[in-house]
Amino acid sequence: MRVLVIGSGGREHALAWRMAQDEGVTEVLVSPGNPGMAVTPKVTTHPTVGLDLKETIDFAVKSRVSLIVFGPEKPILEGWADHFESLGIPVFAPRKAAAFLEGSKIQAKRFFLEHQIPTARFFEAKDAREAKALLKQCADWKGVVVKLSGPALGKGVFVCANIQEAEAALDQLIQTPQPGQEEGLILEELLLGREVSMFYLIGPNQPALFLGSACDHKRLLENDLGPNTGGMGAYAPAQFFPKHLEETVLKKIIEPTLEGLRQRGTSFTGVLFAGLMVSDQGPMLLEYNVRFGDPETQALMPLLQGNLSETLRALSLGQTMSGISLKSDSVCVHIVQAAKGYPGLFGAPIERGQTIQACGEPMANGTECFYSGVTGLFPDLTTSGGRVLGISAVGRNTGEAKSLAESESARHTFVNAQWRRDIGKSAL
Ligand code: AMP
Ligand code: GLY
Repeated sequence: MRVLVIGSGGREHALAWRMAQDEGVTEVLVSPGNPGMAVTPKVTTHPTVGLDLKETIDFAVKSRVSLIVFGPEKPILEGWADHFESLGIPVFAPRKAAAFLEGSKIQAKRFFLEHQIPTARFFEAKDAREAKALLKQCADWKGVVVKLSGPALGKGVFVCANIQEAEAALDQLIQTPQPGQEEGLILEELLLGREVSMFYLIGPNQPALFLGSACDHKRLLENDLGPNTGGMGAYAPAQFFPKHLEETVLKKIIEPTLEGLRQRGTSFTGVLFAGLMVSDQGPMLLEYNVRFGDPETQALMPLLQGNLSETLRALSLGQTMSGISLKSDSVCVHIVQAAKGYPGLFGAPIERGQTIQACGEPMANGTECFYSGVTGLFPDLTTSGGRVLGISAVGRNTGEAKSLAESESARHTFVNAQWRRDIGKSAL
């Protein structure tokens, strides 16, 4: 079968790379993709298609694909899946009616409350000024997290240790409004604990299939300092997460969510990605994403056993599936390299045009490079975006995977690259 992956980043590269290895897959088309993906056999990129619904529909029909998998949230939140469904093409992504779980933090938090899903206390505000006035009611919180309600490309969350920091973040938002702020903001209580991302594959009216857990590293700098980013690295699985809590998450968070959607007359298809904080009160839901995580996917795919494309296609068609799991004897560490200036908060420029070194050279066993913000003709690539590439390394334990990922990252890099040397350190 031919599979279409929509998107152009490292996550889409990892998905395409993994599905290209599935038995029965003849080609993975990525639209638009990026020129780094040319390194992967059976993967083709289609840069002229663009992230446009009509162009993508024409392309999918013409290419006779048997499955469409989405990377980024934007087309999902815009409801592309509904259009492909009406064409009869299996698509592994939620319909628009379920996408609010990620698309609107305000609507999602109201939904969590309604269905008694454990989550942090919060206030809603219509704009940054109103939020500032609400801060005095947060005085007994451990800290305040300011969240823009709408989609903000992973840059809509400001984790503030105290009221003063939250006030400063809100002042900046008043002066320089950011995307995602239009439909309001949330002030949420800061939760302390360990963060974990859990991934479930779901077909309409099917039980959730647990894919695995991973830990993202959101802050730009080592030791979790600096601004939040789209993700600077990840490791999988989250070994610290006790097995018995998997059942708790399923029963108290995932199943009530699917049941709550059913009560609204909506079923869920696609990836349900729960961002959790494991606090002393147990697992608390920070947020949902309705897609694969970036960069968690780059850490999960090298560990995945089973036929992924077959599973996603069957789930899309409402069939019951099993047989997908992570290798139990290995760990994967993924390190992202970002350009100087990333995450480009409040208009800061991001450097472009640096040459990628060692591109196309053989890599160490168990390692893989997934490309994101690159341009040119493989192997002559230069940087063209915030997150440029990432190296995944599989080892028998975290230490082995980490040092392998670091040695390959040092070789496969570019001038002024920002990358963290502590991805996976907390799991050592
Ligand atoms: P989100 O986009 O909601 O996942 O937020 C981005 C990141 O901010 C999360 O991955 C957490 O690291 C952090 N965060 C969000 N909400 C909270 C919270 N209530 N307490 C502590 N950290 C949070
Ligand atoms: N890694 C977080 C995300 O994909 O949103």
